[in-house]
Amino acid sequence: MAQVSEATRAKVADEIKFDILEGVPEDENDLKRSQIARTFISDTVTIPTKEMYSYALQASLGDDVYHEPSTFALEAHIAKITGKEAGLFMPSGTMSNQIGLRTHLMQPPYTIMCDHRAHIYKYEVGGAGFHSGAAVTPVIPSNDHHLTLDDVKANVVYGPDVHFAPTEVIALENTLNGTIIPQDEVIAISEFAHSKGIKMHLDGARIWHVAAETGKSLKELVEPFDTVSLCFSKGLGAPIGSCLVGTKEYITRARRIRKLFGGGMRQTGLLSGSVAYALTHHFPLLPRVHALARKLEKSLEDIGVTILSPAETCMIFYDAGSIGVTYDEIAERGLALPEPLFLGGSRLVLHIQTTEAAVDDFTKLIATLAEEKRKAGFVKPEVKVNGHQDVYVRRAH
Ligand SMILES: Cc1ncc(COP(=O)(O)O)c(C=O)c1O
Repeated sequence: MAQVSEATRAKVADEIKFDILEGVPEDENDLKRSQIARTFISDTVTIPTKEMYSYALQASLGDDVYHEPSTFALEAHIAKITGKEAGLFMPSGTMSNQIGLRTHLMQPPYTIMCDHRAHIYKYEVGGAGFHSGAAVTPVIPSNDHHLTLDDVKANVVYGPDVHFAPTEVIALENTLNGTIIPQDEVIAISEFAHSKGIKMHLDGARIWHVAAETGKSLKELVEPFDTVSLCFSKGLGAPIGSCLVGTKEYITRARRIRKLFGGGMRQTGLLSGSVAYALTHHFPLLPRVHALARKLEKSLEDIGVTILSPAETCMIFYDAGSIGVTYDEIAERGLALPEPLFLGGSRLVLHIQTTEAAVDDFTKLIATLAEEKRKAGFVKPEVKVNGHQDVYVRRAH
């Protein structure tokens, strides 16, 4: 091979190098922090703190496809606190759910049963069909709140009739839209499912909130499930990561499928360290978030706003139409405040970095808008809220 001169190498290196900090104003991250404190769009926006990163920097430096000690320890810890045999660290909740389902689903035809509002059905890009060849049976809860054993029995498929694809997995979500499924219902569904040879998967992206709110241990909450996906990057405020838990044999197969999906990661110690910090320091903050959500719900009700889905944990869904405004109008007025508020559609999500001042400012904004509309002649219509409809209204962009 021809000799390469130092000048040529330097030229290539010069093209490749990149200073990401160049041109970033010094106080950009401070601005970001203050914006996150006033963002009601999602809890995924929560940002890592300096304390979190300085703790995480001390985590181990292994390669996770071979063996990353801190990540291995995290997986073992999550398995222990959920009472399962093994855990597998994942880059996202979507991947954790989809690999979780794929590992259960071996040979179509089959169906997954879930709530019609479930993340695995609505917001995972049709992954069940794409990755697992599975059809989904989305069920509308007859009580407007959570799936019951009767709902499950009315929609389950088993037996010899060849017209139907059998239910292979029942996937529940807890919390779902911030609401909690009563544990006795979970147990009843699980006992029925298992008696028919149907597996139980939990999308437990926000199961932390259920533990924080009910005082039940994670182990008790997830005991009825064969497998669970838990997220660290939402309410807990870690930058990245989820964990899938199940039996050793199941997780061994899931680890291979994770590699197949391109999810075999390398130096994940920094991420696992961030998660450990979040488990220790952020989980205890959740009751404050729930209390703030209840306070906001009460203030909205006092103004005359119709609540579509209650503040059982960190989310509230409200009907802007009940005070004569649109979500876009609210979002625009929020953005125009001296200290802006960042709002989506019908969903308000509170998180560990939400400030009380942000909640108060939002309440004032809604009160002002309601008053303006009232003066302009708006009268609240007498409409019954139909809990069957999906209360999540996304704002037009
Ligand atoms: C209930 C639920 N499950 C799964 C996910 C997917 O997580 P991710 O965005 O990390 O893929 C989300 C995302 O917000 C979620 O709300």
